[in-house]
Amino acid sequence: MTTALITGSTAGLGAAFARRLARDGHDLVLVARDAERLAEQATELHDRHGIEAEVLSADLATDEGIEAVATRLGDRRNPVDLLVNNAGFGNKGRYLDVPLADELRMIKVHVEAVLRLTSAATGTMRERGRGGVVNVASVAAFVPRGTYGASKAWVVQFTQGVARDLAGSGVRLMALCPGFVRTEFHQRAGMGTDNIPGWMWLDADDVVTAALSDLARGRSLSIPDPRYKALMGLAKLTPRSLLGGISSKAGRKYGPR
Ligand SMILES: NC(=O)c1ccc[n+]([C@@H]2O[C@H](COP(=O)([O-])OP(=O)(O)OC[C@H]3O[C@@H](n4cnc5c(N)ncnc54)[C@H](OP(=O)(O)O)[C@@H]3O)[C@@H](O)[C@H]2O)c1
Repeated sequence: MTTALITGSTAGLGAAFARRLARDGHDLVLVARDAERLAEQATELHDRHGIEAEVLSADLATDEGIEAVATRLGDRRNPVDLLVNNAGFGNKGRYLDVPLADELRMIKVHVEAVLRLTSAATGTMRERGRGGVVNVASVAAFVPRGTYGASKAWVVQFTQGVARDLAGSGVRLMALCPGFVRTEFHQRAGMGTDNIPGWMWLDADDVVTAALSDLARGRSLSIPDPRYKALMGLAKLTPRSLLGGISSKAGRKYGPR
């Protein structure tokens, strides 16, 4: 029996991680801001799968919230074996349309929280000689895409770098880079999605299945779908200037209304 801590567990990809890990018999620490939703989720997962589900209501855009989760990750009496840094959000609008405070909030949640929670978790995992961290990034990490893409590019670079630094310690790290996934993400950001072609959408449960299989294989980067693997292969061959143009146009077409 092992314990997994999932940030942003109450919706979308985080909820899919929680369902799958509970089904596999792992105890869970569920983290998000909405305490009521967390409590309902914990009860449901406990009743359905017989696992222990602890809740931790924390806002990862604040120092106190990050500190509370880091403290839980550092608890050596109740160790966490798998950390899924998943909490995240989008901001509607292009650069300069988005208030600077919202961009900074994104960096706090996508970058600072991921750094501090990864450090808290891997510290104790290294002492025990085992553990795993999945940091949820995005395919947006590979194209010029404002603060969102830049924050996810940081997640990929950071995770792959740390994975190499900790190689041989028994602690695995992996950056997960999905394409469009049907979750609450776009609706919460007030982004229109009607014109995103059907073939581009991924199912959250399928993304989690692919991610856990890539983690088990020891991969430090997971792009969980052949369609997006092909697209990212193509992106690598495309000059940055052209990629920037395509990304900006796609942002207009598929992104925020
Ligand atoms: N959906 C996509 O197309 C897509 C594609 C690529 C990557 N991603 C990435 O996947 C991750 C999960 O996104 P999703 O699509 O599953 O989004 P989602 O359905 O909107 O779920 C977001 C989750 O994060 C929590 N959360 C948001 N802000 C938080 C904060 N400040 N502190 C603590 N928890 C917070 C939310 O709960 P509370 O509101 O209760 O806090 C919720 O549980 C994100 O990192 C996102 O960037 C998404």
